[in-house]
Amino acid sequence: MQEWSADSWRSRPVRQQPAWPADGQLNDVLREIAALPPLVTSGEIAELKSQLSAAAAGERFLLHGGDCAESFESCSSSPITNQLKILLQMSLVLTHASRKRVIRVGRFAGQYAKPRSVELETQHGVSLPVYRGDNINRPEFTRAARTPNPQLLLRGYERSALTLNFVRALVDGGFADLHHPEQWNLDWVAHSPLAAEYKRMVDAIGQGLQFMETLAGVRVHQMQRVDFFTSHECLVLDLEQAQTREVPRRTGWWNLSTHFPWLGARTGAIDEAHVEYLRGIENPIGIKVGSDHTPAALIALCERLNPTRESGRIVVIHRMGAHNIATALPPLVQAISAAKIPVLWVCDPMHGNTETVMVQGVEAVVAVKTRKFAHILAELEQAFEVHAAAGTILGGVHFELTGENVTECMGGARGLVETDLARAYQSQLDPRLNYEQALEMALLVARRM
Ligand code: PEP
Ligand code: CO
Repeated sequence: MQEWSADSWRSRPVRQQPAWPADGQLNDVLREIAALPPLVTSGEIAELKSQLSAAAAGERFLLHGGDCAESFESCSSSPITNQLKILLQMSLVLTHASRKRVIRVGRFAGQYAKPRSVELETQHGVSLPVYRGDNINRPEFTRAARTPNPQLLLRGYERSALTLNFVRALVDGGFADLHHPEQWNLDWVAHSPLAAEYKRMVDAIGQGLQFMETLAGVRVHQMQRVDFFTSHECLVLDLEQAQTREVPRRTGWWNLSTHFPWLGARTGAIDEAHVEYLRGIENPIGIKVGSDHTPAALIALCERLNPTRESGRIVVIHRMGAHNIATALPPLVQAISAAKIPVLWVCDPMHGNTETVMVQGVEAVVAVKTRKFAHILAELEQAFEVHAAAGTILGGVHFELTGENVTECMGGARGLVETDLARAYQSQLDPRLNYEQALEMALLVARRM
């Protein structure tokens, strides 16, 4: 194996990189980003890794969720607060049910680039580069908007820092105080069919906490503060490299743009650039695995990315689809288990269940991407069953969700249908569970636990 360096990926075939203009701007921007302070620290990354190791052993549970892609526009107070609230509420429900501490990881503070299945989008006979996320270009269908612009990487770095700054301030300021969970209610939770069940749970937690504090005669200060970690898809390798550094008093190279980068399903070929880059950094790494993955390929990938078999290093995020998981997952689980490779198993019930429906828009019938709540739940339930049957542990879940009242996924307690999709569809990319659907999903998963 050739020696690793932060740029050794450049000698490998690389997919999904933007066609940046060849005017030198990109290098100027990368130099600037490389000189700016890091977004996260190696100490936090090491802490997450040790918590993920505990989750692999069944002692903790990972809740990983957020937007498919963040947008620059929603880098503002209310969407960030609502995102934290829904993750917090879901984690409370999951903790209550599982009696395990939940690790919260947001798809935020840097989830600004997307892999796409085609290079070009054609409208009325005009073809332009596809939208690849706000770090790269803009969604409007004009040549100017769709031309990759390196300055956006700087805007994305700044917004990641702003998001993280706000998240840290909220957390430190007692936003997540378990003594006052009623303060986390989003306005419209009161109208949810599940409000009563959620409220009962919150009351039970409040009473339990009060009981403990009366008994011990002290206030449980730890309950005023919870951690959030950040993650994004490791996609634009120039950008990831610019934020990859050595740190004093620790060995190795760290990607300090996020705690937890993941390898997407479209860039996971073992001899290509993304795997080459990821194998050399110290962060924990997610690997997205679809139904076409063979056991041999997954074993080879785990060995390449984690040759020393360090626990907490690899999180296998399976995303197979409700119709495929029962046949596709067991061989992978059995093979990894037989090879005694340490991984944390996590189910992403979103990306194998995307479908396209035709919906009447303002002017014409348009194709809209959606997901059915029932399929998402069905995949999760089967994931629990497959792992139970194999004697392995499903140690986490991965959702695309938002704290906003959108209509992007169908079903759930309110029974959203195709005609509802046009009402509040905001995602530029994949459909997300809305606030109520996400909380309902957590309650249903909790029952299953
Ligand atoms: C995603 O998580 O948004 C994504 C693109 O997933 P996958 O690589 O699994 O398709
Ligand atoms: Co997505």
